[in-house]
Amino acid sequence: MTDKPQRVRKAVLPAAGLGTRFLPATKAQPKEMLPVVDKPLIQYVVEECVASGIENIIIVTGRGKNAIEDHFDSSPELESFLESKGKSDLAELVHNIGNMVHFSYTRQKEPLGLGHAVLVARELVGNEPFAVLLGDVIIPGSRPATQQLVEVFEATGKGAITVEEIPREKTGLYGIVDVEPAGDSRWGKRLMKIRDLVEKPSPSEAPSNLAVTGRYLLPPEVFDCLERTQPGRGGEIQLTDGLRLLAKETGLYAHVFDGKSYDAGDKLGFLKATVEIGLENQEFGGDFREYLRSLKL
Ligand code: G1P
Repeated sequence: MTDKPQRVRKAVLPAAGLGTRFLPATKAQPKEMLPVVDKPLIQYVVEECVASGIENIIIVTGRGKNAIEDHFDSSPELESFLESKGKSDLAELVHNIGNMVHFSYTRQKEPLGLGHAVLVARELVGNEPFAVLLGDVIIPGSRPATQQLVEVFEATGKGAITVEEIPREKTGLYGIVDVEPAGDSRWGKRLMKIRDLVEKPSPSEAPSNLAVTGRYLLPPEVFDCLERTQPGRGGEIQLTDGLRLLAKETGLYAHVFDGKSYDAGDKLGFLKATVEIGLENQEFGGDFREYLRSLKL
Protein backbone atom coordinates (compact mmCIF):
# COMPACT_ATOMS: atom_id res chain seq x y z
CA MET A 1 0.00 0.00 0.00
CA THR A 2 1.21 3.50 -0.77
CA ASP A 3 -0.24 6.85 0.23
CA LYS A 4 -0.50 7.97 -3.36
CA PRO A 5 -3.99 9.40 -4.01
CA GLN A 6 -6.24 7.24 -6.16
CA ARG A 7 -6.43 8.15 -9.84
CA VAL A 8 -9.44 10.25 -10.81
CA ARG A 9 -11.44 8.21 -13.35
CA LYS A 10 -15.03 9.30 -12.89
CA ALA A 11 -17.09 12.44 -13.26
CA VAL A 12 -20.65 13.24 -12.25
CA LEU A 13 -22.63 15.64 -14.43
CA PRO A 14 -25.85 16.76 -12.70
CA ALA A 15 -28.42 17.36 -15.45
CA ALA A 16 -31.75 17.02 -13.71
CA GLY A 17 -32.56 20.74 -13.29
CA LEU A 18 -35.68 22.15 -14.91
CA GLY A 19 -33.97 25.00 -16.74
CA THR A 20 -36.56 27.57 -15.74
CA ARG A 21 -34.17 30.46 -16.50
CA PHE A 22 -34.39 29.52 -20.19
CA LEU A 23 -38.13 29.14 -20.64
CA PRO A 24 -39.73 28.85 -23.13
CA ALA A 25 -36.69 27.31 -24.92
CA THR A 26 -36.51 24.58 -22.28
CA LYS A 27 -40.21 23.76 -22.14
CA ALA A 28 -39.80 20.55 -24.15
CA GLN A 29 -36.02 20.15 -24.40
CA PRO A 30 -33.34 19.85 -21.74
CA LYS A 31 -31.33 23.03 -21.17
CA GLU A 32 -28.19 20.88 -21.44
CA MET A 33 -29.06 20.36 -25.13
CA LEU A 34 -29.17 24.07 -26.03
CA PRO A 35 -26.50 24.55 -28.70
CA VAL A 36 -23.64 26.99 -28.42
CA VAL A 37 -22.57 27.44 -32.07
CA ASP A 38 -22.68 23.77 -33.17
CA LYS A 39 -22.57 21.65 -30.01
CA PRO A 40 -25.01 21.22 -27.14
CA LEU A 41 -23.83 22.66 -23.82
CA ILE A 42 -23.35 19.23 -22.28
CA GLN A 43 -20.96 18.15 -25.04
CA TYR A 44 -18.54 20.95 -24.09
CA VAL A 45 -18.57 19.59 -20.55
CA VAL A 46 -18.07 15.99 -21.71
CA GLU A 47 -15.13 17.12 -23.86
CA GLU A 48 -13.61 18.87 -20.83
CA CYS A 49 -13.86 15.57 -18.93
CA VAL A 50 -12.18 13.64 -21.74
CA ALA A 51 -9.39 16.23 -21.98
CA SER A 52 -8.90 15.87 -18.21
CA GLY A 53 -8.36 12.10 -18.35
CA ILE A 54 -11.83 11.06 -17.14
CA GLU A 55 -12.90 7.61 -18.37
CA ASN A 56 -16.39 7.24 -16.90
CA ILE A 57 -19.10 9.88 -16.99
CA ILE A 58 -22.19 9.54 -14.82
CA ILE A 59 -25.02 11.80 -15.92
CA VAL A 60 -27.76 12.44 -13.37
CA THR A 61 -30.92 13.06 -15.35
CA GLY A 62 -34.60 13.48 -14.61
CA ARG A 63 -37.91 13.42 -16.44
CA GLY A 64 -37.82 14.95 -19.93
CA LYS A 65 -34.07 14.50 -20.35
CA ASN A 66 -34.02 11.58 -22.81
CA ALA A 67 -32.45 13.72 -25.54
CA ILE A 68 -29.19 13.72 -23.55
CA GLU A 69 -28.95 9.90 -23.62
CA ASP A 70 -29.88 9.87 -27.30
CA HIS A 71 -27.17 12.41 -28.08
CA PHE A 72 -24.41 10.23 -26.62
CA ASP A 73 -25.87 6.99 -27.97
CA SER A 74 -24.76 5.43 -31.25
CA SER A 75 -26.88 6.30 -34.30
CA PRO A 76 -26.19 3.68 -37.00
CA GLU A 77 -29.06 4.80 -39.26
CA LEU A 78 -27.86 8.41 -39.32
CA GLU A 79 -24.27 7.29 -39.86
CA SER A 80 -25.12 5.04 -42.82
CA PHE A 81 -27.38 7.73 -44.29
CA LEU A 82 -24.51 10.23 -44.15
CA GLU A 83 -22.09 7.66 -45.62
CA SER A 84 -24.52 6.93 -48.48
CA LYS A 85 -24.58 10.66 -49.28
CA GLY A 86 -20.78 10.80 -49.35
CA LYS A 87 -20.65 12.81 -46.12
CA SER A 88 -18.17 10.57 -44.35
CA ASP A 89 -16.67 13.45 -42.33
CA LEU A 90 -20.09 14.12 -40.77
CA ALA A 91 -20.65 10.37 -40.27
CA GLU A 92 -17.37 10.19 -38.36
CA LEU A 93 -18.24 13.25 -36.28
CA VAL A 94 -21.57 11.65 -35.29
CA HIS A 95 -19.87 8.32 -34.57
CA ASN A 96 -17.24 9.89 -32.31
CA ILE A 97 -19.73 11.67 -30.03
CA GLY A 98 -20.85 8.44 -28.40
CA ASN A 99 -17.39 6.91 -28.29
CA MET A 100 -15.44 9.56 -26.43
CA VAL A 101 -15.88 7.95 -23.04
CA HIS A 102 -18.03 5.45 -21.11
CA PHE A 103 -21.43 6.86 -20.07
CA SER A 104 -23.77 5.77 -17.27
CA TYR A 105 -27.08 7.35 -16.36
CA THR A 106 -29.05 7.57 -13.17
CA ARG A 107 -32.11 9.57 -12.25
CA GLN A 108 -32.87 12.11 -9.60
CA LYS A 109 -36.55 11.43 -9.12
CA GLU A 110 -37.42 14.67 -7.30
CA PRO A 111 -35.82 18.11 -7.62
CA LEU A 112 -34.30 18.10 -4.12
CA GLY A 113 -31.21 20.13 -4.96
CA LEU A 114 -27.70 19.89 -6.42
CA GLY A 115 -26.27 18.19 -3.33
CA HIS A 116 -28.98 15.54 -3.57
CA ALA A 117 -28.27 15.06 -7.31
CA VAL A 118 -24.63 14.28 -6.50
CA LEU A 119 -25.71 11.90 -3.75
CA VAL A 120 -27.88 10.01 -6.24
CA ALA A 121 -24.65 9.06 -8.09
CA ARG A 122 -23.13 7.49 -4.96
CA GLU A 123 -23.53 3.84 -6.02
CA LEU A 124 -22.09 4.48 -9.48
CA VAL A 125 -19.10 6.43 -8.13
CA GLY A 126 -18.26 3.99 -5.33
CA ASN A 127 -15.33 4.55 -3.01
CA GLU A 128 -13.11 6.71 -5.18
CA PRO A 129 -12.45 10.39 -5.90
CA PHE A 130 -14.51 11.98 -8.65
CA ALA A 131 -15.09 15.23 -10.48
CA VAL A 132 -18.38 17.14 -10.62
CA LEU A 133 -19.00 19.46 -13.56
CA LEU A 134 -22.06 21.68 -13.80
CA GLY A 135 -23.42 21.74 -17.33
CA ASP A 136 -24.37 25.42 -17.21
CA VAL A 137 -20.77 26.48 -17.11
CA ILE A 138 -18.51 26.06 -20.11
CA ILE A 139 -14.77 26.53 -19.91
CA PRO A 140 -13.23 26.20 -23.36
CA GLY A 141 -9.47 26.03 -23.70
CA SER A 142 -6.60 23.64 -23.86
CA ARG A 143 -6.00 23.32 -20.09
CA PRO A 144 -9.39 22.42 -18.65
CA ALA A 145 -10.31 23.59 -15.16
CA THR A 146 -11.07 19.97 -14.24
CA GLN A 147 -7.58 18.88 -15.25
CA GLN A 148 -6.17 21.64 -13.04
CA LEU A 149 -8.21 20.26 -10.10
CA VAL A 150 -7.04 16.71 -10.83
CA GLU A 151 -3.44 17.99 -10.56
CA VAL A 152 -4.19 19.54 -7.14
CA PHE A 153 -5.85 16.34 -5.92
CA GLU A 154 -3.06 14.08 -7.16
CA ALA A 155 -0.43 16.25 -5.48
CA THR A 156 -2.22 16.92 -2.18
CA GLY A 157 -4.70 14.04 -1.78
CA LYS A 158 -7.39 16.58 -0.85
CA GLY A 159 -10.53 17.73 -2.60
CA ALA A 160 -10.47 21.03 -4.48
CA ILE A 161 -13.00 23.28 -6.17
CA THR A 162 -12.56 25.90 -8.86
CA VAL A 163 -13.23 29.51 -7.84
CA GLU A 164 -13.02 32.83 -9.60
CA GLU A 165 -13.29 36.49 -8.65
CA ILE A 166 -16.65 38.09 -9.35
CA PRO A 167 -18.02 41.61 -8.79
CA ARG A 168 -19.30 41.92 -5.19
CA GLU A 169 -22.83 42.77 -6.30
CA LYS A 170 -23.15 39.30 -7.86
CA THR A 171 -22.43 37.15 -4.78
CA GLY A 172 -26.15 36.30 -4.53
CA LEU A 173 -25.84 34.17 -7.69
CA TYR A 174 -23.06 31.82 -6.53
CA GLY A 175 -21.55 29.76 -3.76
CA ILE A 176 -18.95 31.98 -2.07
CA VAL A 177 -15.85 30.75 -0.22
CA ASP A 178 -14.11 32.00 2.92
CA VAL A 179 -10.42 31.20 2.47
CA GLU A 180 -6.91 31.50 3.89
CA PRO A 181 -3.60 31.05 2.04
CA ALA A 182 -2.67 27.40 1.49
CA GLY A 183 1.02 28.29 1.62
CA ASP A 184 1.88 25.77 -1.08
CA SER A 185 4.62 27.15 -3.32
CA ARG A 186 3.60 24.93 -6.24
CA TRP A 187 0.47 27.01 -6.80
CA GLY A 188 1.35 30.28 -5.06
CA LYS A 189 -1.70 32.46 -4.48
CA ARG A 190 -3.87 30.34 -6.78
CA LEU A 191 -4.40 27.69 -4.10
CA MET A 192 -6.24 28.49 -0.87
CA LYS A 193 -7.57 26.53 2.05
CA ILE A 194 -11.34 26.77 2.47
CA ARG A 195 -12.46 27.81 5.95
CA ASP A 196 -16.14 27.93 5.06
CA LEU A 197 -18.60 28.32 2.20
CA VAL A 198 -21.96 30.08 1.86
CA GLU A 199 -24.55 29.46 -0.85
CA LYS A 200 -25.66 32.68 -2.57
CA PRO A 201 -25.08 35.23 0.22
CA SER A 202 -26.04 38.89 -0.19
CA PRO A 203 -23.04 41.15 -0.92
CA SER A 204 -23.02 42.38 2.70
CA GLU A 205 -22.93 38.82 4.11
CA ALA A 206 -20.44 37.38 1.59
CA PRO A 207 -17.11 36.36 3.17
CA SER A 208 -15.24 37.20 -0.09
CA ASN A 209 -15.84 37.81 -3.77
CA LEU A 210 -14.52 34.38 -4.76
CA ALA A 211 -17.32 32.39 -6.38
CA VAL A 212 -17.64 28.65 -6.89
CA THR A 213 -17.42 28.17 -10.67
CA GLY A 214 -19.05 24.74 -11.10
CA ARG A 215 -16.02 22.41 -11.18
CA TYR A 216 -15.34 20.20 -8.16
CA LEU A 217 -12.88 17.39 -7.39
CA LEU A 218 -14.17 15.49 -4.41
CA PRO A 219 -13.13 12.55 -2.28
CA PRO A 220 -15.79 9.85 -1.62
CA GLU A 221 -16.15 11.14 1.99
CA VAL A 222 -18.34 13.88 0.53
CA PHE A 223 -21.21 11.38 0.25
CA ASP A 224 -21.38 10.98 4.04
CA CYS A 225 -21.30 14.75 4.36
CA LEU A 226 -24.20 15.06 1.89
CA GLU A 227 -26.18 12.39 3.78
CA ARG A 228 -25.98 14.61 6.85
CA THR A 229 -26.80 17.85 5.01
CA GLN A 230 -30.16 19.39 5.82
CA PRO A 231 -32.16 21.34 3.23
CA GLY A 232 -30.73 24.85 2.99
CA ARG A 233 -31.29 27.75 0.63
CA GLY A 234 -34.55 27.36 -1.31
CA GLY A 235 -35.41 24.29 0.77
CA GLU A 236 -32.92 22.26 -1.30
CA ILE A 237 -30.00 20.04 -0.28
CA GLN A 238 -27.17 22.26 -1.43
CA LEU A 239 -23.81 20.88 -2.57
CA THR A 240 -22.23 23.98 -1.03
CA ASP A 241 -23.60 23.00 2.40
CA GLY A 242 -22.24 19.45 2.04
CA LEU A 243 -18.86 20.96 1.19
CA ARG A 244 -18.92 23.03 4.42
CA LEU A 245 -18.84 19.76 6.32
CA LEU A 246 -16.19 18.29 4.02
CA ALA A 247 -13.96 21.38 4.43
CA LYS A 248 -14.20 21.09 8.23
CA GLU A 249 -13.73 17.32 8.42
CA THR A 250 -11.16 16.49 5.73
CA GLY A 251 -9.97 19.84 4.39
CA LEU A 252 -10.80 21.31 0.98
CA TYR A 253 -8.91 23.63 -1.36
CA ALA A 254 -10.13 26.49 -3.53
CA HIS A 255 -8.23 26.82 -6.80
CA VAL A 256 -8.28 29.97 -8.92
CA PHE A 257 -8.16 28.39 -12.34
CA ASP A 258 -6.24 29.63 -15.31
CA GLY A 259 -8.79 30.22 -18.07
CA LYS A 260 -12.17 31.78 -18.78
CA SER A 261 -15.59 30.47 -17.83
CA TYR A 262 -19.01 31.28 -19.29
CA ASP A 263 -22.10 30.95 -17.15
CA ALA A 264 -24.27 29.72 -20.00
CA GLY A 265 -27.15 29.07 -17.57
CA ASP A 266 -27.73 32.80 -17.73
CA LYS A 267 -29.06 34.39 -20.93
CA LEU A 268 -26.34 37.04 -21.20
CA GLY A 269 -23.62 34.51 -20.35
CA PHE A 270 -25.04 32.20 -23.01
CA LEU A 271 -24.88 34.96 -25.63
CA LYS A 272 -21.30 35.84 -24.66
CA ALA A 273 -20.27 32.19 -25.00
CA THR A 274 -21.97 31.98 -28.39
CA VAL A 275 -20.21 35.11 -29.69
CA GLU A 276 -16.75 34.27 -28.35
CA ILE A 277 -16.81 30.60 -29.35
CA GLY A 278 -18.25 31.65 -32.74
CA LEU A 279 -15.32 34.06 -33.22
CA GLU A 280 -12.90 31.16 -32.69
CA ASN A 281 -14.62 28.97 -35.29
CA GLN A 282 -12.23 27.93 -38.05
CA GLU A 283 -14.87 27.82 -40.75
CA PHE A 284 -16.60 31.18 -40.27
CA GLY A 285 -14.90 32.96 -37.33
CA GLY A 286 -13.30 35.53 -39.68
CA ASP A 287 -16.57 36.32 -41.46
CA PHE A 288 -18.37 36.55 -38.14
CA ARG A 289 -15.77 39.03 -36.83
CA GLU A 290 -16.28 41.17 -39.95
CA TYR A 291 -20.03 40.99 -39.49
CA LEU A 292 -19.79 42.12 -35.84
CA ARG A 293 -17.53 45.02 -36.88
CA SER A 294 -20.05 46.03 -39.55
CA LEU A 295 -22.70 46.50 -36.85
CA LYS A 296 -20.78 49.64 -35.69
CA LEU A 297 -22.23 49.45 -32.18
C1 G1P B 1 -24.81 26.30 -8.56
C2 G1P B 1 -24.18 26.15 -7.16
C3 G1P B 1 -23.39 27.40 -6.81
C4 G1P B 1 -22.35 27.66 -7.89
C5 G1P B 1 -23.04 27.78 -9.26
C6 G1P B 1 -22.00 27.91 -10.38
O1 G1P B 1 -25.81 27.26 -8.52
O2 G1P B 1 -25.22 25.91 -6.22
O3 G1P B 1 -22.76 27.22 -5.56
O4 G1P B 1 -21.64 28.84 -7.59
O5 G1P B 1 -23.83 26.63 -9.53
O6 G1P B 1 -22.63 28.17 -11.60
P1 G1P B 1 -26.91 27.41 -9.73
O7 G1P B 1 -26.21 28.21 -10.80
O8 G1P B 1 -27.26 26.05 -10.16
O9 G1P B 1 -28.04 28.18 -9.12
